[in-house]
Amino acid sequence: MKVLNPTLDEEAISKAAKLIRAGEVVAIPTETVYGLAADGLNGEACHRIFAAKNRPADNPLILHIAKLEDLGRLTPVPELGEALFPLWPGPLTLIFPKSEIIPDCVTAGGETVAIRMPTHPIARAVIEATGSPLAAPSANLSGKPSPTNAEDVIEDMDGRIAAVLDGGACTIGVESTVVDLTSKPAKILRPGYYTEEDLRAYIPHITTDAALLKDREIPKSPGQKYRHYAPRAEVEVYMGKREHVHEAMRRRLQEDVLTGVLVFDDSMEYFPEPKIGMGPREDIHVMGERLFSALRAMDRRGADRILIEFRREKGFGETLYNRLMKASSGKMIDV
Ligand code: TXA
Ligand code: MG
Repeated sequence: MKVLNPTLDEEAISKAAKLIRAGEVVAIPTETVYGLAADGLNGEACHRIFAAKNRPADNPLILHIAKLEDLGRLTPVPELGEALFPLWPGPLTLIFPKSEIIPDCVTAGGETVAIRMPTHPIARAVIEATGSPLAAPSANLSGKPSPTNAEDVIEDMDGRIAAVLDGGACTIGVESTVVDLTSKPAKILRPGYYTEEDLRAYIPHITTDAALLKDREIPKSPGQKYRHYAPRAEVEVYMGKREHVHEAMRRRLQEDVLTGVLVFDDSMEYFPEPKIGMGPREDIHVMGERLFSALRAMDRRGADRILIEFRREKGFGETLYNRLMKASSGKMIDV
């Protein structure tokens, strides 16, 4: 993972913390995506998050903490949880049984709570300055791609929240891995930066929610059941042999629809504008970093259709497959 080193503007951080303590919603950068942060122990403030996002009330929020000592009052930590603590801080969200002090609106009335300790220095500084865990979902309008830079936050949230802290572009670009520690064995509810294989080194019997692997079942993580990560334009994803993918995409480009393409850097020369390079084919993490902002950029450029070149592979490739599947409403074309 890259080293994050944005300038910590003390004054901006304390302004943000002041707004949050007063019950307002402030967008903050994290290493994954921008979050819409409010005081996680203030039910009314958390309701404002749902309103700003148009988020369905049955979709619970993640509480963000800065240090392990903050965990004790939020959950009676199950033993198994400690197995994954070496990955904190980081792009990993853990589901625990919830304690009494957590407002119902954070957990959507459920008995469990999602908790994450981010690495991003700005996120951590705001949590510390606020003195409370921060409830923070991704900072997009419900259904849209998560914002990975301040401009994308403003596009969705202007006039809806009190402020955004601009920390530049997020380095991971895809949301955290969500692991349910209340089920036995522990279960991945949302794939993310960490893959099942990565986590098996810490919890050997960890599994992945079966509904995530099939297309029809309702996943256990409420957020995974909605149309998601979707730009205004319709999205189609092309996978398979490079020549065949190019051929199929070029055929589609003949149609009379304003179409943008997202392709690996080594394919850029073969396609007309509007196009965005998604990094080297061999390093799918770069595609992860750019995907959501590229989808939004194509919307801004007026595209009605977006064609994406993709290479399915194990590990983080499976995570991207999950996001692309939703962004395209299942239009994954294996040529
Ligand atoms: O990387 C991230 O996780 C970002 C940054 C801002 O931290 N946050 C994020 O939050 O992606 P959100 O709300 O967009 O996604 C949280 C996911 C949703 O799918 C939600 O349903 C699930 O976590 N979730 C939250 N609490 C849960 C719980 N108690 N049980 C099961 N799933 C839960
Ligand atoms: Mg989200």
